[in-house]
Amino acid sequence: KKVVLAYSGGLDTSVIAKWLSEEYNCEVVTFTADLGQGEEVEPARAKAEALGIKEIYIDDLREEFARDFVFPMFRANAIYEGEYLLGTSIARPLISKRLIEIANETGADAIAHGATGKGNDQVRFELGAYALKPGVKVIAPWREWDLNSREKLMAYCEQHNIAVEQKKGKKSPYSMDANLLHISYEGGILEDPYAEPEEDMWLWTVSPENAPDEPTYIELTYEKGDVVAIDGVAKTPAEVMIELNKIAGANGIGRADIVENRYVGMKSRGCYETPAGTVLIRAHRAIESITLDRDAAHTKDELMPKYAELVYNGYWWSPERKMLQAAIDATQEYVSGNVRLKLYKGNVVVVGRKSENSLFDESIATFEDDAGAYNQKDAEGFIRLNSLRLRIASSKGRNMLDD
Ligand code: ARG
Ligand code: SIN
Repeated sequence: KKVVLAYSGGLDTSVIAKWLSEEYNCEVVTFTADLGQGEEVEPARAKAEALGIKEIYIDDLREEFARDFVFPMFRANAIYEGEYLLGTSIARPLISKRLIEIANETGADAIAHGATGKGNDQVRFELGAYALKPGVKVIAPWREWDLNSREKLMAYCEQHNIAVEQKKGKKSPYSMDANLLHISYEGGILEDPYAEPEEDMWLWTVSPENAPDEPTYIELTYEKGDVVAIDGVAKTPAEVMIELNKIAGANGIGRADIVENRYVGMKSRGCYETPAGTVLIRAHRAIESITLDRDAAHTKDELMPKYAELVYNGYWWSPERKMLQAAIDATQEYVSGNVRLKLYKGNVVVVGRKSENSLFDESIATFEDDAGAYNQKDAEGFIRLNSLRLRIASSKGRNMLDD
């Protein structure tokens, strides 16, 4: 009867809106979110109206996205496969949540999205939707229809009087996705993992070689694991992302060119610009370095790949994510203080960290003082007992060298 569509206002989702009402003979509700992608969302209203849509939702979700998704994820220092900062992955559960809220408000029994049948996004949207509304019906037109080329989509628009915007300038050859955390590029020449992208693909960062010759210094203030101020000026989470994207992007920071493993099993090449995220991941580790206990920090690091994988695979709304989040958040109690950074030609250099809760004790760490809490004599027994099993094995003739 009624379906809520995640609608960008672009060509693909416009075709989907029309196709849904024809193919399923149902009413279509559109939902468009501002997640900080840097494009106006309001124009989606007129476009939806032109398609005959009666219920149109347009939401500014930037603050919620930064506060309840990006920031909690950065408390975990989450990185997928050593490189990907999860910019697209972390936005999907919020979109799922809003789709379901709107379905409940409008009495819709179905949701629809414009992700293809080959990617991660379909999985993320749908796992999220099912977790929050178990009986929901999901429609994924890309898995059903045969409009699988640009030409067929254009022909469909022609047939159904869907206005196609002639964008000024050349159309980007990439599949892109953007929000406060990143902008991503896939497809086109990137499908050859050996081919270097042209410089003009990158939209958010200058190349490190064109970055200023003078470094930019900034100071971040942390409270319980989250940045609350930049250079002493209080900021909301979304403001932190916006401002750091600007400063870091201008210094050539945050580019990544990756081949990653999609959940559905294929390898995929993607390029990403994550300027604020690249700063945040370094800065957060720096403040943790003085405020976290060693074994709490190491245990947290063991959980990290698991956490990153479940965000990547679409299990944000899951018992295991909640469980790991609770553990991670518990470690952040004392993660408050300041980090000073030097941003320079693509590099984020930590130059200082301080905290009221610092565990760093100069009187213990210093090489000069022998009278304090640390008695060097104790180290002898420490090492002797730790070597006990090594000495036993060795004395029984076991070879410790590589063969
Ligand atoms: N490969 C990245 C991920 O799975 C980016 C996906 C981009 N999505 C898109 N609809 N363009 O998170
Ligand atoms: C898509 O296939 O819709 C985008 C890429 C992805 O989801 O991994």
